[in-house]
Amino acid sequence: MWILAFIFFQSILNVFSEELHSSLYFVNASLQEVVFASTTGTAVPCPAAGAPPASLRWYLATGEEIYDVPGIRHVHPNGTLQIFNFLPSSFSKLIHDNTYYCTAENPSGKIRSQDVHIKAVSREPYTVRVADQKAMRGNVAVFKCIIPATVEAYVTVVSWEKDTVSLNSAMLHDHSRSAWASRSLCSLSHS
Ligand SMILES: *[C@@H]1O[C@H](CO)[C@@H](O)[C@H](O)[C@H]1NC(C)=O
Ligand SMILES: *[C@@H]1O[C@H](CO)[C@@H](O)[C@H](O)[C@H]1NC(C)=O
Repeated sequence: MWILAFIFFQSILNVFSEELHSSLYFVNASLQEVVFASTTGTAVPCPAAGAPPASLRWYLATGEEIYDVPGIRHVHPNGTLQIFNFLPSSFSKLIHDNTYYCTAENPSGKIRSQDVHIKAVSREPYTVRVADQKAMRGNVAVFKCIIPATVEAYVTVVSWEKDTVSLNSAMLHDHSRSAWASRSLCSLSHS
């Protein structure tokens, strides 16, 4: 009887101290966008975590819990969301260009990460070019580096050349939006 009572109290204490010491927290609050190459795939750790270890689940921004798709998408037991590499013909917007979030749940409660946009890009070979411009002598001519639309989102113009001589980067007005892996060089040739 006393032993039972002792065990009973002991377990209440355990639950109590577990709750006192349990916490939930965000691991990487700056993680809002993951852009990855279709040839490599990506593995995104859950941006939320907890102590004692929380159960981690991924959802689409619509609130739908995501399911494993063999060879395409998998959530590891440690909460890492893996999206496998794929051929451009297997592109699925629902999987390869969608907004996800992750939740962490343990005895202290449940938290939801911010939305993370996970987007695949196909790294096809591409070329950039400069369109010819005409300007009156003494006037300003504006040249634009023309990047194919399919890769534009992840190409940054890093320098301009004139007759293979690099132009001063202070002259480079870069309005490109994102700086993912790819970098390009635009060339002007003298005429
Ligand atoms: C947090 O996310 C940013 C943006 O994706 C990434 O560059 C950085 O390495 C991440 N930090 C950690 C600790 O995971
Ligand atoms: C989670 O597990 C996967 C597969 O075992 C591993 O590749 C990944 O690095 C792990 N991530 C973390 C954050 O431990």
